[in-house]
Amino acid sequence: MSIGVFDSGVGGLTVHHRLVDRFPQADLIYLADQANAPYGGRSGEEIVELTREGARRLFEEGCDVVVLACNTAASVALRRLQQTWLPGYRREAGRPLNILGIVVPTIEAATGLPWEHEADRLGDKVEHVDILGVFSTPATAASRVYEIEIDKRRQDVAVFSQPCPDLARMIEAGASRDELAAAIAGHVRALATRIGRPPDRAILGCTHYEIVADLFAAALPPGTPLIRQPEATADALARYFERHPEFRTGHSAVRRFLTTGEPGMQNKLVEAFWGAPLSFEAA
Ligand code: DGL
Repeated sequence: MSIGVFDSGVGGLTVHHRLVDRFPQADLIYLADQANAPYGGRSGEEIVELTREGARRLFEEGCDVVVLACNTAASVALRRLQQTWLPGYRREAGRPLNILGIVVPTIEAATGLPWEHEADRLGDKVEHVDILGVFSTPATAASRVYEIEIDKRRQDVAVFSQPCPDLARMIEAGASRDELAAAIAGHVRALATRIGRPPDRAILGCTHYEIVADLFAAALPPGTPLIRQPEATADALARYFERHPEFRTGHSAVRRFLTTGEPGMQNKLVEAFWGAPLSFEAA
């Protein structure tokens, strides 16, 4: 079987990269829905529909597990698809299939707790509150998934989301590092102004942002820890495969990169992150 990796565009490559390190022999098929990117300003219904079509396409390519390497798709569409669409599709396909996300592993990494763990209410016993900033698309910020789920687990962590409209599009379009640095500095400043000080830690809650993680690190106070979604997702997937031996990761190290948009080479920013030229085929 193959592992499918889905994103609206090139951001999920940051997760793909770590999956290759973790499962070097696995067959991996990447699908970028660049014809419809960015997702971050779209309505919930559109995001659900586009994510369903992306997952369907990867299942049709032979994937059995699809990883939504996209916070926007995972926070808006994943639960809906798992509850309403996947059971019927799985029955029709007649084989075990699943869709996994990126938000749960990130929350586990941010809280240091397994997903099943919900904290006892500590009441007024909280002495120190850790301020966690989340930079994300407007759709992910509007879902409030990080605020809600982290609050259930850690009362000593306060989450502040900063929507960064347009940033994923700029990365997708290969904007210059100077333009990106200026936009990112503006978002970091806006968050710090809202909180009254910079965050103690941060999540880059859009996989595109990991491509320019160094620019976020430069805009935040030196040494601010960043919670890394690609690592957290690769760790979580390794644990998932241990618990689910019905899924095997393949062993031919197949690597395919599909796009619903223009096939061909990806921009220089992506190439610099990837460390080599990268060409996508038509989906
Ligand atoms: N990379 C995506 C995310 O993690 C989506 C960005 C977008 O399409 O707006 O949210």
